[in-house]
Order: sequence, then C-alpha cells, then structure tokens
Amino acid sequence: MARILITSAIPYINGIKHLGNLVGSQLPADLFARFNRAMGNEVMFICATDEHGTPAELAAAKAEKPVAEYCAEMHDVQAEIAKGFRLSFDHFGRSSSQRNHRLTQHFAAKLAENGLIREVSESQVYSIDDGRFLPDRYIEGTCPNCGFTSARGDQCDNCTKQLDPTDLIDARSTISGSTNLEVRQTKHLYLMQRSLKDKLEAWIDSKTDWPILTTSIAKKWLNDGDGLQDRGITRDLHWGIPVQKGDAPWPGMEGKVFYVWFDAPIEYIAGTAEWADAKGKDDAAWERWWRTDKGAADVTYYQFMGKDNVPFHTLSFPATILGSGEPWKMVDYLKSFNYLNYDGGQFSTSRGRGVFMDQALSILPSDYWRWWLLSHAPETSDAEFTWENFQVSVNKDLADVLGNLVSRVTKFAKSKCGEDVPAGGSFGPQEAALIADLGARVKDYTDLMAQMDVRKSAAELRAIWVLGNEYLQSAAPWSVVKTDPERAQAMIRLGLNLIRVYAVLSAPFIPDAAQAMMTAMGTDDWTWPTDMSQALRTLPAGHTFSVPENLFRKITDEERAEWQQKFAGVRS
Ligand code: MF3
Ligand code: ZN
Repeated sequence: MARILITSAIPYINGIKHLGNLVGSQLPADLFARFNRAMGNEVMFICATDEHGTPAELAAAKAEKPVAEYCAEMHDVQAEIAKGFRLSFDHFGRSSSQRNHRLTQHFAAKLAENGLIREVSESQVYSIDDGRFLPDRYIEGTCPNCGFTSARGDQCDNCTKQLDPTDLIDARSTISGSTNLEVRQTKHLYLMQRSLKDKLEAWIDSKTDWPILTTSIAKKWLNDGDGLQDRGITRDLHWGIPVQKGDAPWPGMEGKVFYVWFDAPIEYIAGTAEWADAKGKDDAAWERWWRTDKGAADVTYYQFMGKDNVPFHTLSFPATILGSGEPWKMVDYLKSFNYLNYDGGQFSTSRGRGVFMDQALSILPSDYWRWWLLSHAPETSDAEFTWENFQVSVNKDLADVLGNLVSRVTKFAKSKCGEDVPAGGSFGPQEAALIADLGARVKDYTDLMAQMDVRKSAAELRAIWVLGNEYLQSAAPWSVVKTDPERAQAMIRLGLNLIRVYAVLSAPFIPDAAQAMMTAMGTDDWTWPTDMSQALRTLPAGHTFSVPENLFRKITDEERAEWQQKFAGVRS
C-alpha cells in the first residue's frame, strides 16, 4: 500500500470560485485522491482557503465586516460548496489558522538562522488617495517584459513574469483608479532565493517525469536573465501573520505581516496539522506525511494547480523548504493546468462572467459538471466551456451511453427475472470477448489515471461504457430471451455485474451516480476490477438488486439557451 499526499492550490477566500478555478486544481486533485483510495493506497488530501492579503481586506471592507469574521464566513461558504462538488478533502483548512501562524514564523526563523534573509529598506508605492501602501496586485500598469497594459504589480497575467510594482510603466491604483501615487521608504524582509539557485536547479533537474508545462515555466524563471530574484516576504498590512522569528519578536518589523504568498503554501503542511488536531491526533500523525525524518520518506507527494501558480511552487515554496535546512517532504510530481475559457472569452470573477461553483450546483447536480470539466480538462492547451458542448457531453456520454445502459439492463432484468440476479446459462464466446476487451481497456484506464492523464482517462472510461452498450446491442438478450431464456439469463447476469464494475471505475469522476449504481446492485463491494472475468462474476445468482432512478437527465435546447443568456454577464 503506497502513501500518497495530495494538495490542491488553496483558493483565495474572497468570493466563490468559478469552474475554471475548479478544474485547474481542486477537481483533478479530487479525481486523483479518489482513484488512489480506490487502489487501496493511503491518501492524505489537503486543501484550504488562502485568507491573507489585500483582496481579503478589501472584500471584507466591501461586505462591511471585520476581516476575521468575513474570512470565517467565507471559509464555511467555500467548504459547503466543496462538499456540494464532492471534493473529498481529508481536511479543508485555513491559512489563517494558529498552526499556520506558528509554522510560517518557524520557517522565517530558520531561514534567518541560515543567513537567507536580508532586510531591505525599499521604496514602496503609497496611494495618497487610498491612504495606504498599495500591495502589488492593486497596482496596474504596463508590463516591462511584454508590454501588456493590465499587468499587475506582482505578476503579469499575459507572460507570467513575476514583477515588482515599481517595474510597471504608468502605474495606477486599482482600488481607486488614482494615479496620485508616491514612493515611500519602508523596511522589508527578503528571502535570498538567488543563493539557493543551484540547489533549486538541481532539484528541478531531478524531476525528469514532470509535465512539460510545469518544467518549462520553472526553467524559464530560473534561467531567463534575471529570472530568480530575491523576494520580499513581508508587507505593510494589518491582516496576516505577524512577522516574528518563531516565538520571538523581530526587531524593526513590528506591525508588519508576512506576504500572503509566503504563508499560503506553508498551509499545505499546517493544514495537515489542523487535520491531526481536528481528529484529536498527536503531531506524529501529521509529521509522518511531511517530515522525511519522521516517516514521510516513503510518501509520494503530488501537487495540483493552474499554470499561474507554477513559479510559486517550483521556485518560491521550494526555496523556503530547502532554505530551512530541515527534512521536509518536497513535491514529487507537480501537475499543472492551462486555463479554461468561457464561451468565447475568459471567465471573469470581477465581471461575473461564466459559471461560478454555487450557480453550477443550483442548476445541475455535481456529477454533470465533474464529468464535463474533467473530460475537457485544459491539459495540453487552454480549453473552452460552451453550453453546446456541455449539452452534447451530458446528453451523449452520461444520459445515452452510461445512464441508458444501466436503465435498460435493470429494467429488462426485472421484467424477465424479478429482482434477483438470474442463475441460468453460462458465459460464452461473446462474453469472453467482452471480458478480454474490457480487461485491456481497464488496464489502460488504470495506467492513465495513475499518470494523472485526466482527459485521456475520461475518454478511456467512456470507451469502457461504450463496450458494454455494444455488447448488449449485439448480444440482444431481448430477442434471445424468446428462443433461449437460459442464455438470456447469462447475459442479464453479466449486465448487472457490469453495472457494479462501472460504478467502481466511474466513482472518481461521478461519485454520486456511482453510489446510486452500487446501491441499486445491492452491494458495497468497491474492489477495483483487475481481474475482469472474476469481477463480472461478483454478484452471484440469487443476489437481490433494484432498478435505480434515472441516473442522468438530458439538457434541453431551451435550458441551454436560457443558461447561456443567464451567465453571459454581470453577476449580482
Ligand atoms: N490562492 C492562490 C490562487 O488561487 C493559490 C495559492 S496556492 C498556495 O491562485 F500554494 F499558495 F497555497
Ligand atoms: Zn508581461
């Protein structure tokens, strides 16, 4: 039994995420977690809300709530929606937790001890009209690297370059739009990433099996000219983790907090500690996932994230870990995603363009979304959500192929043999051929899932469903029953067993439908079908099953048109 640690990039606290955010991190991470559990591996799957920084402060101000209260509420909202999407986190933590405070302050102390922190008196943009220092993201201007005119102060969304706000040309405040900005002196801590360059490079070079998307971004910022800069890890803000050296004060840094991107990835570790606390376990329980000196040497660690997060996970966070000099578990495989676009443009949180997680669940159950999103995951390139495509996928794959098979088999079985698996006949050449085909495809499917090849896994699963339909079509038990009822019984027996096998295989993608199929088959046997011949004999003659409710309904043209209209514009 392997031990698998999985983290999803932790979503920002301010506001509900859209489907593009979901498919780029939490959802594929969930798919992989469910698959690994199904394989009998020991899984720790951690996510959290990313609660610090100015976006949280501003959103709280807008909601007219104290920021701590706002974050607590939004955390619960996001946790509830995550449940709605059946995201099977072992723990959904909070980056504002005491665990993360202590751990972040601990890392900073270690980095200082190892001579990797320097104090920099720097010029920072102060907005006179807003009455505050402007954090990087709240300054916009022209990217000095590519000329994009809406580059943010921390990163250019067009070329992904990490920026400093003072790099921007023609800067303005995005809070007020004011260009009445001035540069003031303030003191900050810098993490000396440059001196870790060789270590980081050797580490990245050792990851020969990473997806090209991941490695190319990492390499780009490691080697491109001034790619790897020392990074400021503190900010002049109120909301955040106070700058301390462990438990001790940090002279000269009073009133400052750590930069949100410094503490956020540390929450992966702190979130696991929160899990242990919530379960009443001791420190050893989480340390065996994270400390290679305390049991984590045999853990394989997978991270999931959108491509804009890759520099922080291949350079910044590893710099924190390597720089600490302590034996923390580092990521083994980093799965990154391109963007999902929405109906001819981008999803936009600010303009409310596209479908947000709560809205999605209000119109259709999570399986419909999970299936479309995962089967169209933006892996090798950006992908696009269109309502036409969504309608076709749901109606064909889910309703026609899988749903129809389940309903045909169970209804026919019940009408001919009652609600017990029939005993007659035995499997012949047609069944043997099906077993061979299924066996081969399930092996491919299992390999693709293990490789996190999300789209191809979905295509393979669909092909597995299709095999069942083709078998039924050619075996035609509804005609055979008239001339050879025994033989028809064998076909029905196989069909019912096939439904259980499909439940097991489909569960990582569509857990609710899988559960409904399993329940209808009157069993809770989730054994992965490595031996197909045996798997299709699991439900014995005489075993009681039932006919489930329709698994999937079709999306009508009217609904499609209505939703297209509804989600085109500004969200209230
Ligand atoms: N909140 C960030 C985003 O949504 C992701 C943070 S990932 C972590 O882009 F590593 F910092 F935790
Ligand atoms: Zn740029």
